[in-house]
Amino acid sequence: MYVLGIETSCDETAASVVENGKDVLSNVVSSSLRFHAKYGGIIPEIASRMQLETITQVTQSAIRESGISLRNIGLVSVTSSPGLIGSLLVGISFANSLALSLGIPLVELNHLHSHIYANFLGNSKARLPVIALVVSGGHTSLFYVKSFKEIEPLGETQDDACGEAFDKVAKILGLGYPGGPIIEKLAKKGNAKKIKFACSGTKNPLDFSFSGIKTAVLYYVQRHKNEMDPKLRADICASFQEAVVSVLLQKAFLACSIKRIKSIVVGGGVAANHCLRQRLSEEAKIKGISAYFPPLSFCLDNAAMVAGLGYKRR
Ligand code: KG4
Ligand code: ZN
Repeated sequence: MYVLGIETSCDETAASVVENGKDVLSNVVSSSLRFHAKYGGIIPEIASRMQLETITQVTQSAIRESGISLRNIGLVSVTSSPGLIGSLLVGISFANSLALSLGIPLVELNHLHSHIYANFLGNSKARLPVIALVVSGGHTSLFYVKSFKEIEPLGETQDDACGEAFDKVAKILGLGYPGGPIIEKLAKKGNAKKIKFACSGTKNPLDFSFSGIKTAVLYYVQRHKNEMDPKLRADICASFQEAVVSVLLQKAFLACSIKRIKSIVVGGGVAANHCLRQRLSEEAKIKGISAYFPPLSFCLDNAAMVAGLGYKRR
């Protein structure tokens, strides 16, 4: 079965055709990021306006690149929550009208569940059940995935999301937006042991909290503003990244031991972070746990993961 996926939960407008939940025939992503960069974050009105202007073209490109005709699509799959309400509405209305006009069913999906599914596309060796860590700009959550229809939330952030913390720390350091890739790059030149940053504890040990560490970085920068140079900036990035990655690892492995699960999958924009990929893979190996990350193109928002999960939920 060919499934058309549509994703418009944040700044991206994405469409993809996936065959039988596995083979990605096309994956088109148009981002309005450059229009938001000067504001230091996503402006919802700009995002939804750009999505309204581009969704038809993006979908046409995805159909054309897949090499199949619109008549052969058997199902439309769309992100319905969580996300920016105006942006979601563009995708949902478009997907609904298309499914109705083609006389085919529509499935509406949770965006975080789709990020998990990014690990099961293509010839991935990941097998259920798994613990899933979703780390994006808007969310940080742990799930127990028994089947693609039974996804149990285990914990989530009590304040800022993990990617949001990267973005805010980059802003404090005057590094631009989005912060994740910039911090990762600078951290490579820094000493991760220079400053002891730590994430706050949470009542539920599988929840997360990132607003405290962001404030700690802010106070550190204010206290050392006269010494700020590229070396110190790199040390701050490396020390911050180290603290965040450590807490993600600790909680993901704790979830595995509580649920007695031997596989972890990671999804969302922060899953593109090489320090997280490397540290989690290394420690998982020592613990006898299999760790999976999507290819970089499926970490950030895309519609292939939406089309793939749609097939499993039909
Ligand atoms: O999943 P995503 O594209 O959008 C949401 O659903 O939120 O994630 C975007 C987030 C941003 O906060 C960005 O800073 C972060 O992912 N990010 C990274 C990296 N690449 C993107 N964070 C850390 N390291 C990276 N390499
Ligand atoms: Zn996302």
